[in-house]
Amino acid sequence: MTEKNTDYGRLCIGKKEELFARAAALAAEPQARAREKVFTWALTGGLTPLEWYDWCVRARALPPALLAAAQFTVSDERHVPLTSDESNFGHAARRLLDPLGVPSAQRHPWPVRPVPAVAAEAYRHAWTALAGPGRAYDVCFLGLGDDAHTASIFPGSPLLSSFAKAAEDKPADSSAGLDLFVALETSKGPRLTITPAGLRACGLIVIMTLGAGKAPALKRIFAGPYDPPKAPAQILKTCADRVVWLVDEAAAKEI
Ligand code: 6PG
Repeated sequence: MTEKNTDYGRLCIGKKEELFARAAALAAEPQARAREKVFTWALTGGLTPLEWYDWCVRARALPPALLAAAQFTVSDERHVPLTSDESNFGHAARRLLDPLGVPSAQRHPWPVRPVPAVAAEAYRHAWTALAGPGRAYDVCFLGLGDDAHTASIFPGSPLLSSFAKAAEDKPADSSAGLDLFVALETSKGPRLTITPAGLRACGLIVIMTLGAGKAPALKRIFAGPYDPPKAPAQILKTCADRVVWLVDEAAAKEI
């Protein structure tokens, strides 16, 4: 595995299994340090996590202490029932939490029965009660879309413009007054998502991406101009000291 610090976080390039093992270790380390307090971990959507879940179960990669302590959610969600093939938490439940026997008390899916705005409000309340005010996730896993989106922050998202405006108004704390979690209509339908301010309120962000199809997006992020409305994952620059990129060699071939 090769590693270097970049403007967007620590960039680790390696083989898939090395990256999978690193992802498990990255979640376990802060949990081991945080024994006395609630430890929250957001999983994410896409095909990469599904492969990683299967690997974790097969390799028994997640330590029992982590599984016993972690409170699980997902960084973003479609407004669909857990049983849907579109549900990010549903996939995490079926492929990781069920096989590993994680009890329901440690599962915190986004509510999806109420209309999206009400669901987001309910999630914000529940999350503040669980994690404390102003806190997002101790560990947040993310994926990268071919269009360089992450979570449900797509190119041109209003979340990027409100974050940029807040950063201009209050450079010392660009998250002040912004919600950490919201519902919004996107080009891919209604979504519930962590926001840029929420990403800044995470302890650690792990963004894992695999395959040659991601090479152009990674090139735009790491080698292109800073332009989050076009390459939303560049927003991670604002919390780069807490971001780790896990990228396989095929995806990294242009950076
Ligand atoms: C979504 C997807 C998406 C996903 C990335 C990466 O909600 O639109 O879940 O955000 O995380 O597209 O997907 P892969 O893991 O399949 O590359």
